[in-house]
Amino acid sequence: MEIRLQKVIADAGVASRRKAEELIRQGRVTVNGRVSTEMGLKVDPARDHVKVDGRHLKPAAPKAYVMLNKPGGVLTTLEGPGVEGRFTVQQFLRGVRQRVFPVGRLDYDAEGLLLLTNDGQLAQRLLHPRYHVSKTYLVKVKGVLDDAQIRTLESGVRLRDGLTGPAQVRKVRKTEENSWIELTISEGRTHQVKRMLEVVGHPVLKLKRLRFGPLKLGWLPPGEYRFLTDAEIHRLRAVAVGSGNHPLPAPPPSRGRVRVGRRLAS
Ligand code: URA
Repeated sequence: MEIRLQKVIADAGVASRRKAEELIRQGRVTVNGRVSTEMGLKVDPARDHVKVDGRHLKPAAPKAYVMLNKPGGVLTTLEGPGVEGRFTVQQFLRGVRQRVFPVGRLDYDAEGLLLLTNDGQLAQRLLHPRYHVSKTYLVKVKGVLDDAQIRTLESGVRLRDGLTGPAQVRKVRKTEENSWIELTISEGRTHQVKRMLEVVGHPVLKLKRLRFGPLKLGWLPPGEYRFLTDAEIHRLRAVAVGSGNHPLPAPPPSRGRVRVGRRLAS
């Protein structure tokens, strides 16, 4: 398949696409032994020999899309062990050979669906406010929300960084002291759910992400991961072009290309 030269260089991890264009302009790139300064040139990475500064490009790492059920008490960072020896998500990804990055973050104490990928372009889009990727959280709060508070959450809460966008709330259950709601938002501000509930007077006691755009956490146990199915990847890509922000049923265990990775225990 023919791809633009700057994308081939960027996909090989040598430089960003803009930097790759600079390298081409500077005459530092050869295609099949000839210097190429032509910007729109398309090459076939499987057939053409591309070199930057005389060095062959490594083949692009295959794209990987991983869903982790992040447990509480784990940092959404790839270095490990994290600050003061705390667990990081990296430690739950043994068996994922590609270097994948979290798409957004979950707080240290939050759990649930965390998407990780090495598809930088898709990740960027999924995080961009323009695409309004919806996220649904199961939230345990102190006390019981009344209808006026639910309407406030749904229509917009004034936070220090501005009014929140439209949200949906579903009541799940309640006891005398606490209640559980499902809150769906389409923004990704820091600590957004906790801050929204703080404003309406019901601090968050527990937070779990159940959905991310079309993806559903489903049966995946805490601390385990699985690779996305082709259908899920397809639906994610549809979101990133502005359609298809609807949940897809989580696949049943051990079918198709779904693989579960064991979490590490130590
Ligand atoms: N909102 C929060 O407050 N925390 C999270 O981790 C995610 C959303």
